[in-house]
Amino acid sequence: MSLLMWDARYTLNIAEIDRQHQKLFALFNELYEAMQQGHGNEVIDDVLTRVVDYTAYHFATEEKLLHQYGYAEEAAHRAEHAKLTEQAKALVHKQRSGNAQVAIATLKFLCDWLNNHILGSDKKFAPFLIEKGVR
Ligand SMILES: [Fe+2]
Ligand SMILES: [Fe+2]
Repeated sequence: MSLLMWDARYTLNIAEIDRQHQKLFALFNELYEAMQQGHGNEVIDDVLTRVVDYTAYHFATEEKLLHQYGYAEEAAHRAEHAKLTEQAKALVHKQRSGNAQVAIATLKFLCDWLNNHILGSDKKFAPFLIEKGVR
């Protein structure tokens, strides 16, 4: 894995969601850099707490918009969020039970989220919301 750079592929053209997605990139890169410097185990607790908090905050933002405008695939999108939330909580659980591999697993989790969920399912709802006038 390497640093993840924001690029045009990730842009939904919905300002608040793009800003939140960029924050997830920043969390990934913060953890990645700490690990490169050998400090992964020192920062992982703090990073994971913020990942879990930000997950809840970000998913709530998207789900509110999808619900408000009646997105046909809202339920499926929520289900993907629920699965990602479970994965984040499982990482916290692993961390608390002393698993040493959590930092790398967290990087993989964030990378998968950014590259699969955002470029797949989030990208898919963007034209729908933009069509409804969301910017
Ligand atoms: Fe998202
Ligand atoms: Fe999403």
